[in-house]
Amino acid sequence: MTDVSSKGPAQGDDREILTNRQGHFVYDNQNQRTVGARGPATLENYQFLEKISHFDRERIPERVVHARGATAFGYFEAYGAWGDEPIARYTRAKLFQERGKRSRVACRFSTVIGGRDSSECNRDPRGFAVKFYTEDGNWDLVGNNLGVFFIRDAIKFPDVIHALKPDPVTFVQQPRRIFDFMSQTPESMHMLVNLFSPRGIPADYRHQQGFGVNTYKWVNQQGETKLVKYHWMPKQGVRSMTEEDAANLQAQDVGHATADLYGAIQRGEYPEWELLVQMMDDHEHPELDFDPLDDTKTWPEQEFPPKAVGRMVLDRCPEDFFAESEQIAFGTGVLVDGLDFSDDKMLVGRTFSYSDTQRYRVGPNYLQLPVNQPDHGLVRTNQRDGQMTYHVDGGGGNPIVNYEPSILGGLREAHYPTHDEQGPEIRGRLTRKRIPRTNDYLQAGQRYCLMEQWERDDLVKNMIDLLSQCDRPIQERMVWHFLLVENDLGTRVGEGLGIGAKDVAHLEPLESQDLTDEDRERLRNLG
Ligand code: HEM
Repeated sequence: MTDVSSKGPAQGDDREILTNRQGHFVYDNQNQRTVGARGPATLENYQFLEKISHFDRERIPERVVHARGATAFGYFEAYGAWGDEPIARYTRAKLFQERGKRSRVACRFSTVIGGRDSSECNRDPRGFAVKFYTEDGNWDLVGNNLGVFFIRDAIKFPDVIHALKPDPVTFVQQPRRIFDFMSQTPESMHMLVNLFSPRGIPADYRHQQGFGVNTYKWVNQQGETKLVKYHWMPKQGVRSMTEEDAANLQAQDVGHATADLYGAIQRGEYPEWELLVQMMDDHEHPELDFDPLDDTKTWPEQEFPPKAVGRMVLDRCPEDFFAESEQIAFGTGVLVDGLDFSDDKMLVGRTFSYSDTQRYRVGPNYLQLPVNQPDHGLVRTNQRDGQMTYHVDGGGGNPIVNYEPSILGGLREAHYPTHDEQGPEIRGRLTRKRIPRTNDYLQAGQRYCLMEQWERDDLVKNMIDLLSQCDRPIQERMVWHFLLVENDLGTRVGEGLGIGAKDVAHLEPLESQDLTDEDRERLRNLG
């Protein structure tokens, strides 16, 4: 080992000495090795090559959606009850059982369409993803701020995202492409009415709601199930921006929401959300005018009142943004005992997509990274090797036994907490069919009617601004949909575009669509 004392820093400087990744001291970090002071450079210059080639690899692929986002950490505290009833009646998930019980959480807020450095002022749904590090392993609740989504079948996800992302030729986001797709996708109306109202540009991440959006299940000790939907309500209140507010702010700052979140935490103003749950019996509910597994619908709160089950407090910023925010990986497949999937076709498709993209984006061993590992040393697997293996998953006692079953040692299966065969019995033909009760307009219209006048005005103005950049057939079809959503909305948007109800009365329903009797009645009145 070389003696560094003669080459080392000036006396009295007790900072640690720079090394390369092999643990070798770096004597000169200013000049690479060259033949003579003016070069040429030499190829055996390990220190220079290691430094520059690591830099060349500093970026990993950004998330294909939700690339811009910020993660903060904190805890979830359970209330132990669903309203007045002990929570154990409905779920055996341990994190919810006792009043005051805390689980560590990581929460990443995001925009959806823009790239990693895009503006946080954009009109865009916001992601609201929470990882609970529970005593039974991780639970991820991966939601958004609007409560519904554009589509109801996962097979449409690449299409909706391609339409919303920049044009593949010019790389400019084009209303023409967005509304071309939406005009042929009537289930998007509920989402559009929300997204193009002031709710579509939340003021920042602290003042937004969150929703699980998809329908999940709760399972109790007896194996009985209920359908549930999750809601996060900010204690800070809900605030939004108009298009004009957003444009003014964006002129100065494209990262205001991240700065606001981290600034508040650093000042000790820890943001807090209450988690509420809606519940219904686990069956098809033929009495409802929508399917409980349809993520373009909300559940009416009068019939299915949301009840508070706990609260989340965020009190820590990441120590390193890349390690803890870029590399964090959420997925809808990450559930703990007592929580389950429903057959919601979006949810099932999402559940494949998240871990698939993370094996590509972060690498096959992404779950060995500290931010993604469960707490409590819970991981004991026989999975081995692959790129960037960081350590051998522990347990089993005998290192040569990386398989199961074995009489030489190794790991054994767990016993199911209750019997395995309590799930629903499912019979049916393999098919490709849309769900019945699509009812694409009713809730969109109810949402429009619930808005305050200024919110309706803002929605109408935004739709006219964007649709006026679209081709006439797209404008006509969108006015046709809006007339079915709510006469006032269709009439006002139509007026702005110079399209009356009579101009669209000849349009036939889309092949992909089932109309309700009320929709047909409205159609008859158009002409
Ligand atoms: C992120 C797929 C629907 C919320 C992502 C990512 C993919 C994806 C591939 C990137 C993940 C990563 O790189 O780590 C899908 C598919 C969907 C779907 C295939 C439909 C079939 C939804 C819906 C919501 C949602 C309905 C809201 C309820 C999110 C959030 C993130 C995300 C919040 C960001 C997670 C983070 O902060 O890292 N989605 N998604 N997605 N998605 Fe989805």
